[in-house]
Amino acid sequence: MIRNSILWVCLVFISSATWAQQPTTLTVETQSNTLVFQTDAQNHLRTIYFGKRLKNKEELALIETQNNQRDVNTGIYNSIYTPSGSWNMLEPALNIVHADGNASTDLIYQSINTLKENEDVTLTTILLKDPVYQTEVKIFLKAYFQEDVIEQWTEIKNTEKAPITLQKYASANLYLNAQKFYLTHYLGAWGREMRPEETALTGGIKVIDSKLGTRTNLYEPPTFMLSFNKPSEEDQGDILLGTLGWSGNFKIDFEVDSYHNLRVIAGINPHASAYPLASNTVFKTPSFIYTLSHQGKGFASRNLHRWARKYRILDGTGERLTLLNNWEATYFDFDQQKITNLFKDGKKLGVDLFLLDDGWFANKYPRNDDTAGLGDWEENRKKLPDGLGYLVKEAQKTGIKFGIWLEPEMVNPRSELYEKHPDWVVKQPQRPEHYFRNQLVLDLSNPQVQDYVFGVVDKLFTKNPGLAFIKWDCNAVTFNAHSAYLQARGESQGKFYVEYIKGLYSVLERIRVKYPKIPMMLCSGGGGRVDYEALKYFTEFWPSDNTEPLERIFIQWNYSHYFPAVATCNHVTDWGKQPLKFRTDVAMMGKLGFDIVVEHLSKDDLVFGQLAIENYNKLKNIIWQGEQYRLVDPYKNDIASLMYVDENQSKAIMFNYLVSNRFELTATPRAIQLKGLNPNKRYKIEEINLYANTPSTLNSSLILSGDFLMTVGYNPEVNDKRTSVILTINEVK
Ligand code: DGJ
Repeated sequence: MIRNSILWVCLVFISSATWAQQPTTLTVETQSNTLVFQTDAQNHLRTIYFGKRLKNKEELALIETQNNQRDVNTGIYNSIYTPSGSWNMLEPALNIVHADGNASTDLIYQSINTLKENEDVTLTTILLKDPVYQTEVKIFLKAYFQEDVIEQWTEIKNTEKAPITLQKYASANLYLNAQKFYLTHYLGAWGREMRPEETALTGGIKVIDSKLGTRTNLYEPPTFMLSFNKPSEEDQGDILLGTLGWSGNFKIDFEVDSYHNLRVIAGINPHASAYPLASNTVFKTPSFIYTLSHQGKGFASRNLHRWARKYRILDGTGERLTLLNNWEATYFDFDQQKITNLFKDGKKLGVDLFLLDDGWFANKYPRNDDTAGLGDWEENRKKLPDGLGYLVKEAQKTGIKFGIWLEPEMVNPRSELYEKHPDWVVKQPQRPEHYFRNQLVLDLSNPQVQDYVFGVVDKLFTKNPGLAFIKWDCNAVTFNAHSAYLQARGESQGKFYVEYIKGLYSVLERIRVKYPKIPMMLCSGGGGRVDYEALKYFTEFWPSDNTEPLERIFIQWNYSHYFPAVATCNHVTDWGKQPLKFRTDVAMMGKLGFDIVVEHLSKDDLVFGQLAIENYNKLKNIIWQGEQYRLVDPYKNDIASLMYVDENQSKAIMFNYLVSNRFELTATPRAIQLKGLNPNKRYKIEEINLYANTPSTLNSSLILSGDFLMTVGYNPEVNDKRTSVILTINEVK
C-alpha cells in the first residue's frame, strides 16, 4: 500500500511536470508521412509520431495528450537519440566516456534548422546538448518528399579539452507504434546470399549485426523490413524498409518496450570499436535510410528504387553496358590469343563490353591460381606479352569495349607487395596469419595504403585511357583485425574498423573525382557487399556468385526489395541444368551479362542469345528505369512473376518463371493480375525471346484494357514445356 502511494505521487509529479510548460513540437514531412518530435518538461526531445501524414498541423502538438506512457523505471522510451549513464536505462543510441572518465550523458533540445534544398529535398538539423559536459549532438534528417524516403545521420562533437571515447554511436534511433511488429532480415553465406527470415518480434531486444569487417554482408546485410501488425504483404499494410549506408560492421537493435512499441537503433557496430574522438572534432555517422509505406512492400520498394536511381547510385538514371566476362569460361587459364578470340565471341553475341577477370597480373608470383600474386598489379608478361594497352586496342578494333577485374584491397602472402610492405597488411603481430581464400586484407586506415590503392586504379587508367569498366572484387573477411599503422602512432585499435571503411571511401572519392563516370561493379565473391554508401561510387553490384537460375530467381527477388534492377548485375553462366533461354530470361531481370563459352553454344542457342540481346537493348530502359511490380511470390507459389512499367504506363515487360515442377502442374492455373498499368489504356501483349522453331502458344492479336489486365489478369501459360515466359505489353492507340 505504501509502495503504491509512492508510485502514485511520483506519477502525479511527472504528469504535472509534463504540463508545466508549453512543449516544443517539431515535424519532418514526406508525401505520405509525418514524423513528429516533442520536448518534455526537461526539454528532452522525444519521437511522438511516425505514420500517415496528418492533415491538421495545429493538432500535431496534441498527439502526446492521447498517450499514457509513464516510463518511471527506465527513463523515456521514445528519446530521439537515447543517451546512456544518466536517467535512461534502455538500449542507448549514444554511449560516451568523457575525458575525465565519467560515463554519463544527457541530451537536451537546443534548436532546429530547416533548409529546403529544392522542391523535393529538405534537410532538418536538430541540435542537442549535454548540460554538464557540453557534448553536442546534431541529428540530421534529410526528407525526400516525393520518394517518401528519409536519410538520417548524426554528428557528435567533442567540445571537451581532451579526447572522449565513443562506446556506441548510432546513426538513428526510431520509435514506432503498432500492436505487433514482424521483422524480415537476411542471412547470408557464399552462394546463399539474402535468405529472408520473417519473425514476430517479442519483448526485449533482437539484434542483427555483422563483424566480418571488409566483407561484412556475407553474414548479414544491414538491410531489413518491418511489417506492422501482420506479416508483410506486397500491396497492403504498413511496411518500413530500412538500410544502413555503411560497408563495414553494423548493428541494428530492435527493442520491443513494455508498451509493445518498437525502438530501432541502427549504426556502426560498436564491437571492438570504442572510438576515441579528439578534442574539438566531429564524428559523422553513416546514413540510415528508410521509407514507410501504407500500401505494402511493393510501394515501399518502388519508392526506394526511385530514390536510389535519382539520388544515390552513381549514374543511376544513366546507361549500363552488357558484357561478356571470361571468369567461368577460362578461370586463370588464358593468354593473349585466347582473350582476343573472346573479344570476337563477345562481338558475335552482341554485348557492349568484354570483361577480363582475375589472373591477368603478377610476375614474380604469377596469378595462376588464387594462392599467389594478389597485390602485384602489373600485367603477367607470359600471359599478356603486349600488355593491357594491346588488349584495349584489339578490343576496340573488334568493336567492343574492354574492362578489367581488380581486387585492390587485398594481398596474397605470396606476392611482392607482401614482401615489400608487411606492415601494410592487417594481421595480429603475435598470432599466426589466418587466411580467407589464401589472402589477407590491406590496412586502408593507413594513408600510404590508400595512396597505393588509388595509384593502382589511377595507373591503369593513365596507361590505358580506353579502359571502360572496373569489376572491384573483395574476397576476404577481416581476420585478426589489427593495424600496424595505428599501433605505430600510438592510436587505439578501436578505430580500426571505422578508419578502414573511411579509408576505402576516401580512395573511392579520389577515383570518382578523377574518373567520374567509368562504370564500376561492386563485387565481393558474391553478395558480400552492397549498401547505399558504396553505391555512391559504383554503378552496379554483383548479388551472388550463385548464378544457378532457379536459385537466382529467389536471390534477385530478395534484392529487388531494396535495390533497383539498373544496379543488379545478372550473368548467364553454365550453372544449372536449365536451357539457355531460361538462364537468359532470368538474367534479363536486371543488368544483363554473360559468363559462358560462346563457341560452345549450338547454332540455335547462339541465334537465341543474339536475339535476346537485341530484345534487351530495346527493353532495357523499361527494366532499368521503370516501376517494378512483384506479381507472384516464388516463396508461396509454383511460379515467380514480376513486371516493369515505364513512366507513361504505355510500355511494360513481364517476366514469368516456373520455380517448382510438382506433379500435374501443367500450366499456370489462372491468370496473373498485372499491376501499374493505366486502366483506361488498351494494350497488346506479345511473347518475346523465343527460338525460331518454338512459336508462342499465346494469342498475340488479343488487345486488352489495363482495367481487364489488372482485374481479371493474363495467363502467360507457364508450364513444364514453357518454363520461362517474357511478355511485352505495349499500348495500342
Ligand atoms: C569472385 C567473383 O565473384 C567472381 O566473379 C570472380 O571475379 C572471382 N572472384 C575471381 O577471383
